[in-house]
Amino acid sequence: MQRDPDRQVMEKAYARWAPLYDALCGPVFVNGRRAAARAAREVGGQILEIGVGTGLSFDDYDAATEITGIDISEPMIARARERVKSGRYPFVRELTVMDAHALAFPDATFDCVVGQFVITLVEDPERVLSECVRVLRPGGQIILVNHLYSERGFAAAVERLLAQKARTLGLRPEFPFQRLAAWAQAHGGAELIERRKVRPFGVYTLVRFRCAETQSAAA
Ligand SMILES: C[S@@+](CC[C@H](N)C(=O)[O-])C[C@H]1O[C@@H](n2cnc3c(N)ncnc32)[C@H](O)[C@@H]1O
Repeated sequence: MQRDPDRQVMEKAYARWAPLYDALCGPVFVNGRRAAARAAREVGGQILEIGVGTGLSFDDYDAATEITGIDISEPMIARARERVKSGRYPFVRELTVMDAHALAFPDATFDCVVGQFVITLVEDPERVLSECVRVLRPGGQIILVNHLYSERGFAAAVERLLAQKARTLGLRPEFPFQRLAAWAQAHGGAELIERRKVRPFGVYTLVRFRCAETQSAAA
C-alpha cells in the first residue's frame, strides 16, 4: 500500500480541482453522496461534514438537520459559501477552513459526522476518525462513503497501478476497508454498525460507526 497522502499535495490538488469539481465530480459521486446524506438524515440534528468540498451535498439535506462543513481547501470552501448565498440552504450553519485532524469544536458537539470521499485522502485517517468520535455525542454516528480498495482480481490490479499517479490528482484508489475496521477495534469507543455497497453499481461503500453511549475509549 502507498504511504498516506501529504496535506500539501491534497491542498494543491483541490485548489486545481475547485473550478471544475462540480461539473466533473458531481455526477460521478452522486449516488454515494445521496446514500450518505440519507443515512445522516436518519440520525438528524447537528451534522458535521468533514471535507465538505464545494457543498454539493447540501441538496441532499433538509431543515431537520443543521450542517457545519469544514474543509482544508480554501478554494473548495469558497465555492460552498457561494452556494449557500443562493438562500436555498438555510440549514447550513457554518463553513470553515479546518483540518479534520484537529477539529476546533468541543467534545460531544455533533449528532453525526459525515465524510464523503475524504477519509482515504487524509494524512492520518485513524487520527481523523478519533477526532470524529471526540466531537460526537455518545451514541452519535460516523457515516463514511468512499471507493475502497477492491483487494482481489482485475479491479485491484488496476487500482494498484493507478495508485501512484492518482495521488497528485487528489485521489486514492488503494485504501482498504480493513484499515477502518482495525481503527474501530483499537479505539474501542466506536462500533462498526454497517458496511454496504452503494447501489446501483456498487462502486462505493457506505460505512457507519456508532459511538459508545459512555465514552471510555482511548483517543
Ligand atoms: C474528493 S473531495 C470530496 C468533497 C465532497 N465531500 C464531495 O463529496 O463532493 C475531498 C475533499 O476533502 C478535502 N480534504 C482533504 N484532506 C482534508 C483534511 N485533512 N481536512 C479537511 N478536508 C480535507 C479536500 O480539500 C476536498 O475538498
